[in-house]
Amino acid sequence: MYRTHTCGALRLEDKGKKVVLAGWVQTIRKYGAITFVDLRDRYGITQLLFGEQVNAALEANPLGREFVLQVSGEVIERSNKNPQLATGDIEIDVQSLTLLNKAAVPPFTIQDDTDGGDDLRMKYRFLDLRRAAVRRNLELRYAVNRAARTYLHSEQFMDIETPFLIKSTPEGARDFVVPSRMNPGQFYALPQSPQTFKQLLMVSGYDRYYQIVKCFRDEDLRADRQPEFTQIDCEMAFVEQEDILLMFEGMIRYIFKEVKQIDYTAPIARLSWEEAMWTYGNDKPDIRFAMPLLNLKKPDTVFTNKADHRTLIDEAGFAIFDQAETVLALAVPGAADYSRKQTDELTEWVQRPQIGMKGLAYIKYLAADNCKSSIDKFYTPEQLLSIAKAAHAQPGDLILLLAGKEERTRKAMSELRLELGQRLGLRKPDEFKLCWVLDFPLFEYDEEGNRWVARHHPFTSPKPDQIETMIGNDPVIADAANYLRHPYARIKANAYDMVLNGNEIGGGSIRIYQRELQEKMFAALGMDKEEQQHKFGFLLGAFEYGAPPHGGIAFGFDRLCAILGGSESIRDFIAFPKNNAGRDVMLDAPATIDEKQFEELQIRLQLKK
Ligand code: AMO
Repeated sequence: MYRTHTCGALRLEDKGKKVVLAGWVQTIRKYGAITFVDLRDRYGITQLLFGEQVNAALEANPLGREFVLQVSGEVIERSNKNPQLATGDIEIDVQSLTLLNKAAVPPFTIQDDTDGGDDLRMKYRFLDLRRAAVRRNLELRYAVNRAARTYLHSEQFMDIETPFLIKSTPEGARDFVVPSRMNPGQFYALPQSPQTFKQLLMVSGYDRYYQIVKCFRDEDLRADRQPEFTQIDCEMAFVEQEDILLMFEGMIRYIFKEVKQIDYTAPIARLSWEEAMWTYGNDKPDIRFAMPLLNLKKPDTVFTNKADHRTLIDEAGFAIFDQAETVLALAVPGAADYSRKQTDELTEWVQRPQIGMKGLAYIKYLAADNCKSSIDKFYTPEQLLSIAKAAHAQPGDLILLLAGKEERTRKAMSELRLELGQRLGLRKPDEFKLCWVLDFPLFEYDEEGNRWVARHHPFTSPKPDQIETMIGNDPVIADAANYLRHPYARIKANAYDMVLNGNEIGGGSIRIYQRELQEKMFAALGMDKEEQQHKFGFLLGAFEYGAPPHGGIAFGFDRLCAILGGSESIRDFIAFPKNNAGRDVMLDAPATIDEKQFEELQIRLQLKK
């Protein structure tokens, strides 16, 4: 037996027991003729005491950090207790020591606040994974995995595996491809998600499917994106949107309870996409704090039935506002006393290339009837006050104004709102706020191709009352500059996202399940019959054999774990992640392959310059 206990198990009650422990050397401290060693494993740390006799052996063969030891000895009470440690009341009076393996000096310290930089830690990820901080993240990940499975199993979902070597599934990214030796010149694609398979499973009658599954997407990486990531992928048959929302509200509440011991009993807010964009400028709003945007112009585009405040700024002779497609205001609580330096800094912030605005105007709402503004040449004190009030500002607040093209301005204001929310401490890391965003647009404009692409994916059904608009209008975009005025820009989908603290943690939709409508959808995306048959003949065919109404959702498992763990970076929650260039720096992958492999594949490599 290598050990009787783990390094996290022993307590004062165990005093007097003869035990055997095995683990890694965390620290070594010598005091004259005795030595203390902290022995670490996955479960904790136990202090070992090498008394004079055993210590003599140590002198001959000194230990080093990360050596692997087996010790036997007696549990004794510590004179100098360590309340920070679960095992801090005891230590092991070591009677014999076996060195199981030596270790080279680790390239960084294996402790919570390590001295290792990101690259080094990734290169030696197997050492990084020994650190308690990383281990806790993986433990949380496993807890979320268990909770999701338990919940879904209790709701009669069946875990069914789907293949990885497939034909492309469009989820908006590029495919990773795999050459086939047995079919020279032909390639598999790795799934961007199991989307079409789960739909086929519905046709097959497995009316509640789930899978915690790898997905592969060749896209530009960010902190919350990896080229291979994991989804909790689910699909249900004979359901409407409401059934899905309730089922997965149940799952997320269960996960909160099991993993975070949080009773998330509050209702989960539901915002339409229009509402989210109108109020927060964002389709994944962080609703931990208010700071709603005030729309000072009514955009004549995708937003329907929205009251605006045009009269507050109309035609005042300030050309920038008068001519702008959109003017937005945002009240910043308690910031009326910002200095010139501070407002200048905010202006520079919105002028950075990532935000791309030309300038920033402000109104300082100093007291009940006193406003000072960077645009007071154009607006009367009464007008400025009306804008401040309409923006829900209180005396003492600073009102920021941005003007420009609709989409860019809204995006910029949304970023500014998040930035200020962060600076003001309104985005509390230990507060969790969920919401659903519903009724997304069915289509998205693809600038490069001047055409419509599916905003979610091509299997998402339009709202039933908008099918006519889709079928009755030509998808061709004659006026690219004003694509938002094309009828397709207004068509809404039966699609929904779940948002947690401003992050999209899941997304799904009610699907098209009739061949005819699916064909029309493909056609709207510019696919002719031949292409439809080539790419999706299998699905269209399946829809002819009794496809039930169905819908589903997939959660970004890595993202969900990261947010629950209080981080925005999903890499910290993946055992072996890729870096921002999509590389595994430990394996040094991707890499070239042998000439023999090319030969077997009958492929010759010729890189384009
Ligand atoms: P979607 O593409 O919205 O939907 O993906 C679902 C969720 O997966 C997460 N996610 C990612 N996480 C890490 N790295 C990535 N590169 C990445 N891309 C997406 C997000 C997202 O909400 N088949 C549909 C689901 C459905 O319709 O049922 C799908 O894949 O959290």
